[in-house]
Amino acid sequence: MFVSIEGIDGSGKSTLARTMKNRLMELGKPVFLTKEPTDRFFITAREQTDRTAENAADLFFRFTTDRLFHQAEINRELEKSRIVISDRYVHSSYAYQGPLLENLLGDMKTTLEWMMNVSRIISRMPDIVIFLDIAPENITSRIARRKVRSGFEDPVYLKKVHDYYLKMIDKNWKVIDSTLPQEKVVEIALETINGKYP
Ligand code: TYD
Repeated sequence: MFVSIEGIDGSGKSTLARTMKNRLMELGKPVFLTKEPTDRFFITAREQTDRTAENAADLFFRFTTDRLFHQAEINRELEKSRIVISDRYVHSSYAYQGPLLENLLGDMKTTLEWMMNVSRIISRMPDIVIFLDIAPENITSRIARRKVRSGFEDPVYLKKVHDYYLKMIDKNWKVIDSTLPQEKVVEIALETINGKYP
């Protein structure tokens, strides 16, 4: 089973991914925990703050290349019957690069279609997407407490990223309110996995 965890910066994805891994391992279920961008990916500070469509297109293709190798790694782990949990996957590209590609491609619908077409080379899709939902205006304080801050964390931009996530919610998505107590978030996430794949 392949589970991706999605959400805007500061939504608590990484903590959830780590905790889920620990809980599942305690239950004797082998887990491969991974993330995107992978360690192969390199991005400059300028590229993180450049909000042009050109830069977004360039990043979109590079994130997709990174994912092509990541996908192969995930497939290998799934073959070993491990539960794969990825902190971000393809929907991060749609949510983050979409709002900027819109300036080149038109509206949200057209942009999503374009991105999904380009991403057809990514055949391994998550069985479950856990979306940690938090209103963009509520993350500012969480992010302010971080030592390392990325150029993606701008509230106006994150609002658009959030809009893209909401548009993508589908049958295999589980939306979890990330302002719930951490313990509750973990419980819902684990129930979702067990419910679909007992
Ligand atoms: P990272 O530094 O790992 O931060 P986080 O802990 O919030 O995931 O991620 C780097 C940034 O890269 C993050 O702000 C989201 C962005 N990103 C994209 O813009 N497109 C993508 O396809 C991916 C995977 C990440």
